[in-house]
Amino acid sequence: IPVEIFDLVIFGATGDLARRKILPGLYRRYLSGQIPSGSRIIGAARSAMDGAGFRAQVAEAIEEFVAADKRQPGPIAEFLAMLDYVAIDASGEAGWSELKGLVRPGLIRAFYFSVAPSLFGEIAERLHLHGIADAQSRIVVEKPFGRDLATARALNATLASHFSESQIYRIDHYLGKETVQNLMAVRFANILFEPLWNSQFIDHVQITVAETVGVEGRGAYYDKSGAMRDMVQNHLMQLLCLIAMEPPYHFDPDAVRDEKLKVIRALQPVELTDVVRGQYVGSKGEGGYLEDSENPDSRTESYVALKVHLANWRWKGTPFYLRTGKRLRARTSEIAITFKEPPHSIFDDAPGWRENVLVIRLQPNEGMNLKVMIKEPGPGGMRLTQVPLDMSFATVLGAEGADMPDAYERLIMDVIRGNQTLFMRGDEVEAAWAWVDPLIKGWEARGDRPARYEAGSSGPEDALMLMHRDGRRWREISE
Ligand code: BG6
Repeated sequence: IPVEIFDLVIFGATGDLARRKILPGLYRRYLSGQIPSGSRIIGAARSAMDGAGFRAQVAEAIEEFVAADKRQPGPIAEFLAMLDYVAIDASGEAGWSELKGLVRPGLIRAFYFSVAPSLFGEIAERLHLHGIADAQSRIVVEKPFGRDLATARALNATLASHFSESQIYRIDHYLGKETVQNLMAVRFANILFEPLWNSQFIDHVQITVAETVGVEGRGAYYDKSGAMRDMVQNHLMQLLCLIAMEPPYHFDPDAVRDEKLKVIRALQPVELTDVVRGQYVGSKGEGGYLEDSENPDSRTESYVALKVHLANWRWKGTPFYLRTGKRLRARTSEIAITFKEPPHSIFDDAPGWRENVLVIRLQPNEGMNLKVMIKEPGPGGMRLTQVPLDMSFATVLGAEGADMPDAYERLIMDVIRGNQTLFMRGDEVEAAWAWVDPLIKGWEARGDRPARYEAGSSGPEDALMLMHRDGRRWREISE
């Protein structure tokens, strides 16, 4: 879909996210012909610097974060020519009239708040005070969107006093991932799955987001957050919504978000006995969480596993098991849907039967794998064996699949196009916190220490028990 000429202002343009993701991502979109010439990207940050200084910084970021085969001097120079910079004081007066002089009337105008949430209000207010934002302007905000329901509500209220909901784009970068969107295509563009997509046929669902990285370098933020706030409240919740939601009447931003909201509202409170929190300990010369976070007394979880139930017609009786953690044995994100047994087996004495499982891999090696039963080849009578119907998106999509935009690129372009489907609505975020809050408060009140797990392992032993006691097993964490 073509994009119109725009002015994009990035507050916090010298920060880490802008340097690693936003600006290199915009360059890649430029290369793909998605940024019309005449558009302008204006960095705004505290550092005293001029446009040339900013362009030099962005050139370095491109050098560092864009693949070598995409770094041609010509296009880089053209892209840099679109950039400008204004030194601005988010909570003072400096720089605002200069910014006003840079944005042009009549064009799409977007403001990316890549800054601490404590500055959202001040920036929003000044954008209006100086007549820089109008009723058509869009703003983009990042997580953490609050740290509990009260702070999320306050943030929503702050933004709402300056912008309407249709102007606010809350990023959850998981929604920008190719395969996450594919969940909707797979479910709603095939007749194959939807008739089976309920508790009559699905035994349970496992959602795993495993990381190999620890929290080194972001310990100060992470230690106040933990896996539940950092990953479950947002990313895993979004995956759960896309798996569990009812078909929206149309692929329309509010239709999709209405259905996701219903899922969050149907989430049952989680019993403390259905949650396992873990914290990695050092192994093989690598530091543990306590060293990485630089807080020797920390009780923050770097891993969490939980069993979740949805109180609605479709899912009554089908548990969803979620787990996510840092410093695990492999980096992998996947959703595995395990189906029930056929109602009657005609192969009474044929050994080897196992459940059908549909695995949707989000990263790495995006794809789908459906495990089906066939007859074991050979003359030995009817023995069953399970084989995968395996589809790697990179293989089936070939070159087309190779140039897929990363999550941030896709989401920024959606802001420019004015499409909110892949952004969280304020009520969704609040509903997610309303579900997460009591759980966190529960374990904080008990003052529990998280269970220990070795860096490089599959997580704490207790997490195995969470499934064992239901007669089920986690899938292996492997790439
Ligand atoms: C971020 C979290 O939102 O997502 C990080 O704050 C986490 O802690 C990251 O590492 C994971 O994202 P991805 O895209 O690498 O799976």
